Amino acid sequence: MNKISINTKEIPFQDRYKLLIGSIVPRPIGFISTISKDGIYNLAPFSFFNGVCSEPMTVLFCPVIRGSDGQEKDTLKNIKAIKEFVVNIVSEEFAEKMNQCSAEYPPDVDEFKESGLTPEKSKVVKPPLVKEAKVNMECKLIQLVEIGNKPGGGTVVIGEVVYFHAREDVYQDGKIILSKLKPIGRLGGTEYCRVTDNFSLPRPQIKAQMPVGENPK
Ligand SMILES: Cc1cc2nc3c(=O)[nH]c(=O)nc-3n(C[C@H](O)[C@H](O)[C@H](O)COP(=O)(O)O)c2cc1C
Repeated sequence: MNKISINTKEIPFQDRYKLLIGSIVPRPIGFISTISKDGIYNLAPFSFFNGVCSEPMTVLFCPVIRGSDGQEKDTLKNIKAIKEFVVNIVSEEFAEKMNQCSAEYPPDVDEFKESGLTPEKSKVVKPPLVKEAKVNMECKLIQLVEIGNKPGGGTVVIGEVVYFHAREDVYQDGKIILSKLKPIGRLGGTEYCRVTDNFSLPRPQIKAQMPVGENPK
């Protein structure tokens, strides 16, 4: 079968976006709670999101420039002001409420109220946890990396996880139980997936010792 090869400099950023979100799948969703300098809670999902390292324990996500007005998203504005955020993991049970929070609400609207999700006091950061989320990570900003400042561009937010919360039923012996967490992933367009068709591939053994932290068990 032939391949279609595209010079990415010759297509508009909207088409590049479609190639990214259709190919990098499924994407985990970081459901990010922040607080504005005026004390208004904000909650929004981001699927350009992942874990980075464990020493320090770090996550990253990327709010892009808003297409409608070329402005920064409220999440980024709040993180620039407060330097803290919470990553909440989205479970199937409240997927629709998460989606509700992706609407373009003005900065003075609290998405907790709009979606019916419940804010819960964090241990050490100002933004609240989402009570309904079975896993929450309290984060302090480490670094912002601006990739572009016009539509199509965005800013990568890197934060250190300073407190990790897991509901008792999803946590056992230091591990998170997938079947109880019931996370959802983002696909292209408005599609999502469950993580229920998994399979196992034991890591091949080679003579060299496996680096510390790389053992999948
Ligand atoms: C599942 C999902 C994933 C999303 N991922 C991103 C993302 O990675 N980056 C981004 O800028 N917007 C993303 N969005 C859109 C934002 O959630 C949306 O623009 C939201 O209004 C931003 O809110 P804020 O202005 O309060 O920060 C996503 C939306 C959904 C539903």
